[in-house]
Amino acid sequence: METLATETEVTSMPRIGDEAPKFKAVTTQGDINFPDDYKGEWVILFSHPADFTPVCTSEFITFANLESKFNKANCKLVGLSIDGLYSHIAWLRTIKDKIEFNGIKNIEVKFPLIEDISMEIAKKYGMLQPGESKTQAVRAVFFIDPKGTVRAIIYYPLSLGRNFDEIYRALIAMQTADAFNVATPADWNPGDDVIVSPAGSCGVAEERMTNTDELDCKDWFFCTKKLDKDEVLKKILKS
Ligand code: BEZ
Repeated sequence: METLATETEVTSMPRIGDEAPKFKAVTTQGDINFPDDYKGEWVILFSHPADFTPVCTSEFITFANLESKFNKANCKLVGLSIDGLYSHIAWLRTIKDKIEFNGIKNIEVKFPLIEDISMEIAKKYGMLQPGESKTQAVRAVFFIDPKGTVRAIIYYPLSLGRNFDEIYRALIAMQTADAFNVATPADWNPGDDVIVSPAGSCGVAEERMTNTDELDCKDWFFCTKKLDKDEVLKKILKS
């Protein structure tokens, strides 16, 4: 019989700034204790609707191909779907043996893929969105920082494959904001100007408009400064 999530079970979900809900899980890489096993590093916990489906397959090939790039940014990947361990193993073997996507083939998924047949973890993380599906997780992406705090969440519907360049960009932007105490404007990428924190007093507002050496102020509340790409990458990426 199909197991359906009730409305109350799926309404709770972590929010930005919350501690990432804890769980123990069985994965394709052995048991994990989440997020404790990842303290000191960033982790992206993401869900997909089902094994052996085409959009998910394209996503796993893409993410596995980028895994070392995320690891270099001190970030681990953890996947999840409401499938069992043997389905996961069979699917990942098929991906490696048979599927080519965007010129990527023979790809081995080395990051853990959680089995969540009970839906316990999917419910804890609000990955079940009953209007979309009562039995399959939507494409959720949780960015969790080295202290175990949820820092960003992105949701996509079942039919929409994720943009992994954006996921990487968001990770690097948050790490840059933390490391340099700045914010990042729309479409920011390393090397682009960053936003300095807003003036908190009339005096600072005045100073910002008169001292134009370091800052480029469009107005007192909107000031940017240069931040060298190499400086960003040196600070953030493992050598
Ligand atoms: C897919 O991954 O292809 C997929 C999964 C569930 C619904 C629609 C598409």
